[in-house]
Amino acid sequence: MKMDKSMIRAQQLVFRYTQEGRRALNGVSAEIKKGEFVAVLGANGCGKSTLAKHFNAILLPEEGEVFVEEYNTKDEEHLYDIRQRVGMVFQNPDNQIVATVVEEDVAFALENLGVPPDEMRERVDEAMEMAGIYKHRTKAPHKLSGGQKQRVAIAGVIAMRPDCLVMDESTAMLDPIGREKVMRTVERLNREFGITVVMITHYMEEAVRADRVIVMSGGHIEMEGTPKEVFRDSAKIRALKLDVPQAKELCDLLREAGVAVDEEIISAEECIQALAALLGKPAQPGCDVI
Ligand SMILES: Nc1ncnc2c1ncn2[C@@H]1O[C@H](COP(=O)(O)OP(=O)(O)OP(=O)(O)O)[C@@H](O)[C@H]1O
Ligand SMILES: [Mg+2]
Repeated sequence: MKMDKSMIRAQQLVFRYTQEGRRALNGVSAEIKKGEFVAVLGANGCGKSTLAKHFNAILLPEEGEVFVEEYNTKDEEHLYDIRQRVGMVFQNPDNQIVATVVEEDVAFALENLGVPPDEMRERVDEAMEMAGIYKHRTKAPHKLSGGQKQRVAIAGVIAMRPDCLVMDESTAMLDPIGREKVMRTVERLNREFGITVVMITHYMEEAVRADRVIVMSGGHIEMEGTPKEVFRDSAKIRALKLDVPQAKELCDLLREAGVAVDEEIISAEECIQALAALLGKPAQPGCDVI
């Protein structure tokens, strides 16, 4: 997937919720390229959700600009073009479900847009397939697990055929299996269907799987780079009130104890490979959570 075209561009963004209030965003410039999978990290209250809401014109900048492709989010006449391109998935799946049957829920936004029935059927089926919930299509959403509900919410957004998904801690309320299934769904949407992903998360294990990581602190961008670049300096990550990925933490401890493991290791798979190599054994395929 070529990643040279711009999907979203924020330039010198400043935003306050109230005139007397402090700046929730204080000069944020960032670019998300088409086809990228970008994770956004940062301590509570550092401005991640505020930034995400600027990406599809839920909020408008006080200073600076945001462009979605060529559209300035301040340009009201392009609000539909912007919202159609950038879909948001939020934290609580229960707040995003509106219908009593899964497929009706996925169709909800299309119905409101007046999409003809034949096209709607096709788009809803396609979206449910892509989000991996087709087999649950006739069920009641409230009977599904948290992870399944969140994938219903994703399907509802996908049915709009967006170019970019912005997920604001969409895995935060899920159990580990639900989280992994949502993560794999999103990775597939990114890799197979070329959908750009911006994923706000508190889970470092999710950030490790992104193409690029943006770390925010106090309303600005503090670090930016590949997961390996960002997680290289464990002390700095901790100083920003973030966790170090578990595999990296284990390898740091092993190195302190005199075991020669690579400093660049940040994922469980790399850690397994390195330990198996040290033990002189081939790594077995890992047990899968789903
Ligand atoms: N609706 C609001 N009205 C006033 N202040 C707000 C509002 N929403 C957020 N803020 C403030 O703006 C700042 C940034 O908040 P934001 O929600 O963007 O942070 P966040 O990084 O998403 O945090 P979290 O990890 O807790 O979700 C915080 O100081 C927060 O208290
Ligand atoms: Mg938030």
